[in-house]
Amino acid sequence: MKDANTVRGKHIKIFDTTLRDGEQAPGVTFTLDDKITIARQLDKLGVNVIEAGTPITSKEEKESVGAIVAENLDADIAGLARVLIPDIDACIDCGVDLVHVFVSTSDVQIEHTIKKTKPEIIELSVEAIQHVKEHGLKCLFSAMDATRTEESFLHKICLAAEKAGADTINLPDTVGIMIPFRMHKLVEGVRKKVKTPLDVHCHNDFGLAVANSLAAVEAGATQVQVTVNGIGERAGNADLAEVVMSLHSIYCATTDIKTQYLVEAAKLLERLTGCRIPPFQPVVGENAFSHESGIHAHGVIKKSDTFEPGIMTPEMVGHRRKIVLGKHTGRHSVEQKLSEVGITATEAQLNEILLRVKELGGKGKRVTDADLYTIAEVVTGEVDREMQTIILQEVSVMTGNRMTPTAVVKALVNGEERLSAQAGVGPVDAALKSVQSLMRELAFITLTDFHIDAITGGSDSLADVIIGIEDEDGSSVTARAASDDIVMASVDALVNAINRLMLKRSIRNGGKSK
Ligand code: KIV
Ligand code: ZN
Repeated sequence: MKDANTVRGKHIKIFDTTLRDGEQAPGVTFTLDDKITIARQLDKLGVNVIEAGTPITSKEEKESVGAIVAENLDADIAGLARVLIPDIDACIDCGVDLVHVFVSTSDVQIEHTIKKTKPEIIELSVEAIQHVKEHGLKCLFSAMDATRTEESFLHKICLAAEKAGADTINLPDTVGIMIPFRMHKLVEGVRKKVKTPLDVHCHNDFGLAVANSLAAVEAGATQVQVTVNGIGERAGNADLAEVVMSLHSIYCATTDIKTQYLVEAAKLLERLTGCRIPPFQPVVGENAFSHESGIHAHGVIKKSDTFEPGIMTPEMVGHRRKIVLGKHTGRHSVEQKLSEVGITATEAQLNEILLRVKELGGKGKRVTDADLYTIAEVVTGEVDREMQTIILQEVSVMTGNRMTPTAVVKALVNGEERLSAQAGVGPVDAALKSVQSLMRELAFITLTDFHIDAITGGSDSLADVIIGIEDEDGSSVTARAASDDIVMASVDALVNAINRLMLKRSIRNGGKSK
């Protein structure tokens, strides 16, 4: 049968606009340091173009684009410009490799914003492209609002852009109103008119940005504009991880993206934007490779492809597969988790443990690994205090508006008294860092999850903290603690998690020392 996949084997370029369209997202602003960190991460990921900003907008913006250029990254650095000479010169001054010039082409934007005639718009575009090319730089031309542009005018301006020397032509779905079928037709129509490589920039107003980008690729576009975590104007842009993994795993196309860094990049953006990654986010979300239901967990424990795509694994994207406990948990998940910490249970005990886990999950509670171990210890009577690697003795924190929050933690670590003092962004951060540093020689522990609930809702409310940690080998544990002191709830949850993780490590290493 003839292969209907027209994209198979093709190489698609990834143009990242996290630092430009992404920063236009309401509430998102990056400091210069943030921008450099993001640019380095994007380069590590392997994007082909980093759109660093719009230099004409301010002195600071111009400096930050210049600073990213000075990083000497492998990716081409682009600056955005209207089809105006001063905008383009501001990009050139920054030393960019590529100038992205754009102009409105739809009637609604022409009439209400740019207020020029169509011949004037073509003339301005041609002059702009020629100006970029005269300076020996690459030029990307965008017909803004292409998807609402009268078709004959779109074709006319694309032909003019090609003739003026544009290296790539972008067809933005500026207000995200396309559906894949229409996007395919639009790109195919332009592709029949021009030979210049085509690019797409899709907004996500109806949640179709990724689907429309892929439809454009099917119709012949060879570059896709994306942002990390899909951030951008209004509902955002096409998500980098979703586009790349669909291209690799479904379409069998190639990109230069090193997919093992996708989760790392998503987490960096989560931290720097303060916009949490929803748990259900494809590819990089917490739940993307998590399994709770008994049937699914049993399946993936035996063979992961049973209830995962298979063509995309957690390892490919730098994620981890997780068996999560809750009201749908089955006995295989419980058995597997208990065996990791060396707890053996009889059939009857296993049934009882399962019942209690389901009961806890049924109350709407998240069941942590530590909850399971406690239940199992109660049911089996196996409580091993000897395995407490870390026993907390004293915690004190200092905080205030005129000082850096600092914590001092004293604890017995494998029976030896240790003291650690660390600063943090807040008292909880300082206290958790102090505990982590006590463990440094024994294990490199990173925090993968921190969740806090105020149980009663008042300022004297009980804080319920759930913490997830992971060691350098990828072994992970979740644990919880509750206290009316938020710092103590956090520290207790971390200590609880560390003790369980160290137990898991010792079992994995054949039951030898902590
Ligand atoms: O959404 C859009 O049309 C844009 C252009 C500048 C490409 O962001
Ligand atoms: Zn945009």
